[in-house]
Amino acid sequence: MSGARLVAMIEPVPHVAGSPRPRVLLIFGGRSSEHEISCATAAGVLRAIDRDAWDILPVGITKDGEWTRVPDDPSLFDLRDGHGQSVHASDTRVALTPGGARLVEFPVDDEDGAVVGTTDLGRIDVVLPLLHGPYGEDGTIQGLFEMTDVRYVGCGVTSSAISMDKHLTKTVLHAAGIDVGRWELITPREWDEDRQSCIDRVAALGYPVFVKPCRAGSSIGISRVESPEQLGTAVKEARNHDPRVIVESLLTGREIECGVLGGRAGTGPRTAPLGEIVVPEGGFYDYDSKYIDTEAVGLVCPADVDGADTRLIQETAVRAFEALEGEGLARVDFFYDPDGHRVTVNEVNTMPGFTQFSMFPQMWAQAGVAYTDLVDELLGTAASRDLGLR
Ligand SMILES: Nc1ncnc2c1ncn2[C@@H]1O[C@H](COP(=O)(O)OP(=O)(O)O)[C@@H](O)[C@H]1O
Ligand SMILES: [Mg+2]
Repeated sequence: MSGARLVAMIEPVPHVAGSPRPRVLLIFGGRSSEHEISCATAAGVLRAIDRDAWDILPVGITKDGEWTRVPDDPSLFDLRDGHGQSVHASDTRVALTPGGARLVEFPVDDEDGAVVGTTDLGRIDVVLPLLHGPYGEDGTIQGLFEMTDVRYVGCGVTSSAISMDKHLTKTVLHAAGIDVGRWELITPREWDEDRQSCIDRVAALGYPVFVKPCRAGSSIGISRVESPEQLGTAVKEARNHDPRVIVESLLTGREIECGVLGGRAGTGPRTAPLGEIVVPEGGFYDYDSKYIDTEAVGLVCPADVDGADTRLIQETAVRAFEALEGEGLARVDFFYDPDGHRVTVNEVNTMPGFTQFSMFPQMWAQAGVAYTDLVDELLGTAASRDLGLR
C-alpha cells in the first residue's frame, strides 16, 4: 500500500477538547527485529481496549524509525500464518513536542525531507508503548517520554535499559542475592583482540553453553553450543544482532514464568499464577517455536508447581522487579528445579509478549484480570503516576 493512500484512509483526529476520555497514544512497530510481533500485539490491544474509557490514537514506527499515524484497524497488523505485518512509511510524520505532551503531525517533502508546516494533534494523556527490543523496550523511547513530560505505561529509563541487557540484568540481580546462573560477557574488543581468553572463560563455564546477543529478544541470534569448535559461529551469529555477546552455562529444569504488575500509589507489586513453557527434550524455546511452529512447545497456565515453590518463585519475581526498579509490568522468566527447589532467573522482559494469547495476559486471566481489564489497569496506573524522578 502506498504511503499516500494509507494517509487518505486515516480518519481525521476527532476533536477531543473537553472529552472526558483520556487520550492514549498507542505506539507500535519500531526499529527492532521484533517489529512484526509488536504489530501483532497492537492488533490485539486495539481490539480489546475499552473505547468508552480511552480515546485511542494509534501511531506506528517504521523499521527505519519514522513515526506515522496509522489506521485504527487491527486487521492490518495481525500475524497471518506466522507471518507478521509491518508499519509502512507515509508522507506525513508525527512527533511529540517537548514540555506539554503534545503530538504534532507534519508532511515531509519528498525531495529533501524538509518539514513543511505542522498540525497540532492535541495533548496526550498517556502513552502505551507496545514495543519490544532495542529502541522500544530499552529505555531509549522512555527517555523521550521523560523529556516531553508525557506519562507512559511500563518501566522507566533505567529499569528498561538494564532489563533489556542480559549482562546488566544478571549483574544487578546477582548483587541483590538472586540466583542467575553463571555467565560471561564477551565485548567486541575482547573477542577481536584477545580471543583466547574469551575461549578459556567460556570453557570454564563448561559446555554446553548458550550464546546470546546481550540486547535482543524472541530468541533471535541465540545458539546452544555443544563444543568449542562451534563457539566462533555462535558468537558471529549473536554479533549480527548486538556487538555485545553473553555466554551462559546451561540451565536445567522447568521454564517457569511469573507476571508482575507494578502497584498503584502506595501499593506494592503483585504477581499472577505461574506459567510454564514446555519444550521438547534437547530443544529450546527458539524463534520458530515462539511464532511459526507453535505446536512444538506448550504454554501451560497455571503451571503445576507446589504451593511453597510457587510462593518462592513469586517472591523472587517481586524481588527481581524491585531490584531493577521496575514500574508498570514485567515478566520474570525462571528455570526451576523442583527436586532441589532451586529457582534461577533467566531474564526479565519489561514489555513481554502481549497478544491475547501470550503468556502474560494468560497469567493475569488466571488471576481473574481479563485482557481488556489488564490494559485498563496498565493505562490507569500510568495515567496517575508522577512525572519526573519517581
Ligand atoms: N542458559 C540457558 N540454559 C538452557 N536453556 C536456555 C538458556 N538460555 C536460554 N535458554 C533457552 O532459550 C530460550 C530463549 O532464551 P532467552 O534468554 O529467554 O532469550 P529471549 O530474550 O530471546 O527470549 C529460553 O526460553 C530457553 O528455552
Ligand atoms: Mg525469553
